[in-house]
Amino acid sequence: MLMVTAIAPVNIAVIKYWGKKDAQKNIPINDSISGTLSTDVMYAKTTVYTSSTLEKNRFWLNGEEQVFEGTRIHSCVCEVRSKSDETLPHLTWNLAICSENNFPTAAGLASSAAGYACLVYALGALFKLKDELSSIARVGSGSACRSMYGGWVLWQKGTSSMSNDSVARPIASHEHWPEMRVLILVVNDNRKKHPSTIAMQNSVTSSSLIHYRAKDVVPHRIKEMHLAILTKDFRKFAEITMKDSNQFHAICLDTYPPCFYLNTVSQAIIDLVHAYNDYKGEHVVAYTFDAGPNACLYMLEPVLEEFTSIINYVFPQPADIHDNDYFRGLTLPRKPVDEMIVYDMDLQPYNAGKLKYIIYTKLGEGPKLLSDP
Ligand code: DP6
Repeated sequence: MLMVTAIAPVNIAVIKYWGKKDAQKNIPINDSISGTLSTDVMYAKTTVYTSSTLEKNRFWLNGEEQVFEGTRIHSCVCEVRSKSDETLPHLTWNLAICSENNFPTAAGLASSAAGYACLVYALGALFKLKDELSSIARVGSGSACRSMYGGWVLWQKGTSSMSNDSVARPIASHEHWPEMRVLILVVNDNRKKHPSTIAMQNSVTSSSLIHYRAKDVVPHRIKEMHLAILTKDFRKFAEITMKDSNQFHAICLDTYPPCFYLNTVSQAIIDLVHAYNDYKGEHVVAYTFDAGPNACLYMLEPVLEEFTSIINYVFPQPADIHDNDYFRGLTLPRKPVDEMIVYDMDLQPYNAGKLKYIIYTKLGEGPKLLSDP
């Protein structure tokens, strides 16, 4: 018998992937760029066990057994096997796969990206396959191809008819911009109302904005974002990140029937970020939202403490939630908000909804093996 365990990171796109040219292989209609978050805070963990005596393939997610045959997990296993050395004795043995996330699954927190990246990375180790892992992870879930690398990652949609050049590649390591910090304001961690796979297909067939974005907006944005990251130009980075998130959600509204991912709390966060950027006279915080209401905020270390104090003033920690449940991840520097800021920004506590909790993290490395086969 052989067994391997791996962990893989979440990634948060700053130029979003939305829309597929080929839904079977998850070939996107546009390039995308993301930051890979540290596995010190959020990760998927997968153990793959194989033995000649296993009677069938089995798969567990967060402790519950799931269907294996005919799923995307199954497709990833077939893809890895088809590209591996066929003389490996264990290549055809059945597999028992156990996956878990240390954060809510399918809540718009990029769990599928981390999950498929982890599975493919573990299978690669088991079957001694190093190449093509990003394109195999993509078959599981498009955004998973970006979680195969740490730091800043570009996923090129690809041009070849075989689609084997639709792969992610790192453009800068997590150490390149060491002051970069990430706060995830969790508004709701329930399962998504509109799963992204179906929603993006509806967008492709019903929205005209999505095609305009893919053709006329994203190519230029990708170049600008790439340069902003390489030159560590936070102002430009923030502006493109926020505009791209807004355009993605505009496409969701342009989809028929529309999908509403943002709620009133998300909108209040957007207003607050713009008000703070106006107060500072430049872009110092950037928001981005995936297919859910939770805000992912990128900022540099020097503004972290002040901005957190503002968040805590506007969205006070509910009295019945313990500190350790409310503040998760790395230790977040905290102090009471400066009264002058409350006055100058005319801040008011937000009464129409609250945050569930806040995750504080940084950028980090790609998948890792915890145990070798
Ligand atoms: C809004 O990668 O989850 O997070 O390929 O159908 O599995 P499938 O979709 P998925 O979509 C992610 C969409 C997004 C934007 C992004 O991560 O780029």
